[in-house]
Amino acid sequence: MKKDSNKSELRNIYDSVMLPNYSPADFIPDRALGSRLWDKDNKEYIDFGGGIAVNSLGHSNPTLVSALNEQSKKFWHISNYLTNQPAIELAKKMTDLTFAENVFFSNSGSEANEAAIKIARKYHSSRNNPRNEIVSFKNSFHGRSILNISLGNSEMHRSGFEPLMPGIKQGEFNDISKLKELISDQTAAVIVEPVQGEAGVYEASKDFMAELREMTQKKGVLLIIDEVQSGVGRMGVIYGYMNYDIEPDIVTSAKGLGGGIPIGATLTTKNIGECMQPGTHGSTFGGNPIACAVANEVIRIVSDSNFLKNVLEKEKLFIELLSELKTKGIFSDIRSSGLWIGCDLVDKNANDVLDQAYSEGLIMVSAGSSCLRLAPALNIPNEDIEKGVALMKKILMG
Ligand SMILES: Cc1ncc(COP(=O)(O)O)c(C=O)c1O
Repeated sequence: MKKDSNKSELRNIYDSVMLPNYSPADFIPDRALGSRLWDKDNKEYIDFGGGIAVNSLGHSNPTLVSALNEQSKKFWHISNYLTNQPAIELAKKMTDLTFAENVFFSNSGSEANEAAIKIARKYHSSRNNPRNEIVSFKNSFHGRSILNISLGNSEMHRSGFEPLMPGIKQGEFNDISKLKELISDQTAAVIVEPVQGEAGVYEASKDFMAELREMTQKKGVLLIIDEVQSGVGRMGVIYGYMNYDIEPDIVTSAKGLGGGIPIGATLTTKNIGECMQPGTHGSTFGGNPIACAVANEVIRIVSDSNFLKNVLEKEKLFIELLSELKTKGIFSDIRSSGLWIGCDLVDKNANDVLDQAYSEGLIMVSAGSSCLRLAPALNIPNEDIEKGVALMKKILMG
């Protein structure tokens, strides 16, 4: 085993036994609470990454811990031959809060999107009008399965994994002009993110989303909104589409929904969902009672209007504090959409900055090689925002 003397023994074992598709930080987390985390040497970190927009209520949130503990004493898994109260209650909450009437539970964003595309194709074929083409957008990110890398257009994500899924066309995000040419009588659905997070937090414009809705409706094409990263309060509304005054046909959700417990959901209307009769789709773990019990509490807490108002207040605080880094020419641009912030670095590599930040006790994530992405817990204390931004200034301004 090739050892790196800067890394602990445990971290060296990681390098020898794990598939090398990730390159995690050198330190190993030991415990975490709220928006703070401690490593095995008891060093403290402020968490601005939120597990990439997943830990919506912070680490070890007592309400979530108690929901998990309570359900874990009842039963963990019963399969979809049986149903369970937490799943029913969660679906009821999600349908009460959104356009949707039907919910399918899975375990991740990729699976939620997989279900969305299958529902779209089945919907058309069940009406004796099979359509199989999908339109997605350049710079989008929908996950890492073969379907989802085919929907995205990242060379890095696709290279070596071909053949990709056929029948996918890509439009320009925020540019409706050429979309007409891409949509045909073979188009089953258009899939779009309200904010392209992995690309660096770029919001869809109001006009673009309104025109997209109108065009898809006119042509009988389903509109799928991928809210895997934008959903569950991230944008200061329970689902981002609500900022656009549109009604989608299908919405996908994951990440923040479980507050750190894996769960995915695909939401749709009864009219569309009725094509998915028994046997058409499934997931062994989808609707897992423990995941659903935790997600019930996440949705209950995040959907409170005061909680959502606070998300927008915290966004304001971040932007106010970060603006000095733009004025001083460290960032060329800062974009935000709720507690989801992209900071473009002028002349630094984002991954180098992440490493420097670890040394100073700060966790962030990146989007590409020149954008720092912040997606902290939605209830991050203001004190932690102030402390973390002070660390960013120390790292970036010296
Ligand atoms: C918009 C979007 N869709 C889908 C996914 C894929 O989710 P998962 O990694 O849970 O499969 C992600 C993950 O980052 C995402 O940001």
